[in-house]
Amino acid sequence: MTTRDGEPHPPWYKDAVIYELHVRAFCDGNADGIGDFPGLMTTLGYVRDLGVTALWLLPFYPSPLKDDGYDIADFTGVHADYGTLSDFQHFLDEAHRRGLRVITELVLNHTSDQHPWFQRARHALSGSVERDYYVWSDTPERYEGARIIFRDFEPSNWSWDPVAGAYYWHRFYAHQPDLNFDNPAVRRAILEVVDFWLGLGVDGLRLDAVPYLYEAEGTPSENVPLTHAFLKELRSHVDARFPDRMLLAEANQWPEDAATYFGTGDECHMAFHFPLMPRLYLAIRTEDRLPIIDVLAQTPPIPEACQWALFLRNHDELTLEMVSDEERLYLYRAFAQEPEARVNLGIRRRLAPLLGNDRRRIELLNALLCSLPGTPVIYYGDEIGMGDNVYLGDRDGVRTPMQWSADRNAGFSRAHPQQLYLPLIVDHEFHHQAVHVEAQQRNPHSLLNWMRRLLALRRHHLGGERAGAPAQGRAQHGLRACGAADAAGPARRAFGPRRRGRRRGPRPRGSGAGCVLAVSSMSTSPRTRAA
Ligand code: GLC
Ligand code: CA
Repeated sequence: MTTRDGEPHPPWYKDAVIYELHVRAFCDGNADGIGDFPGLMTTLGYVRDLGVTALWLLPFYPSPLKDDGYDIADFTGVHADYGTLSDFQHFLDEAHRRGLRVITELVLNHTSDQHPWFQRARHALSGSVERDYYVWSDTPERYEGARIIFRDFEPSNWSWDPVAGAYYWHRFYAHQPDLNFDNPAVRRAILEVVDFWLGLGVDGLRLDAVPYLYEAEGTPSENVPLTHAFLKELRSHVDARFPDRMLLAEANQWPEDAATYFGTGDECHMAFHFPLMPRLYLAIRTEDRLPIIDVLAQTPPIPEACQWALFLRNHDELTLEMVSDEERLYLYRAFAQEPEARVNLGIRRRLAPLLGNDRRRIELLNALLCSLPGTPVIYYGDEIGMGDNVYLGDRDGVRTPMQWSADRNAGFSRAHPQQLYLPLIVDHEFHHQAVHVEAQQRNPHSLLNWMRRLLALRRHHLGGERAGAPAQGRAQHGLRACGAADAAGPARRAFGPRRRGRRRGPRPRGSGAGCVLAVSSMSTSPRTRAA
């Protein structure tokens, strides 16, 4: 496809703004204290008006919910708490009607131990196709190079199954056995899951925990070549059947390794930039742009149609896996003094509390999010500066109900307050009766309205219209980090959109074309350039 002035049309995910939410946390339609698809439908106007173009939904499939739905018991169903498959289809159609794309989760590395595949496997004969849906061993001494990810909870990546009489492999919780990608039947079964959701019309899939699909003795069992081979197979499968879809890799890796998930443009379309995220916090705290410049310099160029997904916070802890030991120590001291704020190798806090609820710092990080090279991903509630609750256990403290109004249960649900799936935030500074959408909608100076203006500005200057809008007027633009404003001191950095390719002649109408220079200063004191 091309734009009116003949330039190639950028794929939708390159100028998207993604909004991450959990169905259970967003809006409760049937007053049982748990968010659901009918409730979510009523909020589509809100997210569209925020300037978001795509929604990323956390897992909503049948699950024992021991890892908030990342422990899947049925890949092609909808958890009864959230509605039915036809509720999902209705939601998807309504989102599309409003020009919003929908990204869902493909949790392909593991299942719940309640999944029928695992129940069948533990009873099946050793060596059978059914047994080999998972990774078994007589000894827990295999793949010892693999790190333990949930180190606060799991002592080993192997657990004993008394029914099978063998150990099974799991990179996450023991109740989440890893699927065995060496088994062709597993690979086929996963492709069927992909066909199911893309067939319904889902626009993108986030590939959860994708570096861990294959194990290899004598290595850390991450980013194994066979994993990339499978991703190429997945990509060509998708391309052959479903045009205009997107695969997003969750690969918590150094930039060089994360970039391998793009392949040569034949694996994932997008990948999260994990190492950038903690460095934004490091830069703001040390008032020095160096951590950002440094990680961008370490980031290799990526294929034209690919894109980084950038984020400040998400549903997990602020992971400190991709920083040095010194940096980790510093970040813990700076942002998580209380031991309760720490979990695994990270910090379980939301954006506003992390930044001391300092409006200017919140604005600064969001402005960087929207001007660094990549697609911004906003975590629900951070656009109103929601608080967190580090006492809730695991990562629940950043997954509390969305705060809509000063009504009962912050307008999230009509249920009895004790029925809510998680309690509302009642911390004095972030109390749900003060921090909510309704109040901020009325106040032109609120964070919510500031975020709207920021996203509108970005959309205007990237030339991107909402997904699904007519192609006319969408000029191809790219974001890139420009030269540093060195003379102004170590704190400042300029980032801005840049037109790809030189074009002469008048600017296309309605494209919002032009070059915007976004200058961000990490310093707390004003700097002027020496004459
Ligand atoms: C991913 C998810 C996280 C989940 C884990 C195991 O890292 O983001 O929430 O616990 O995978 O599925
Ligand atoms: Ca409900």
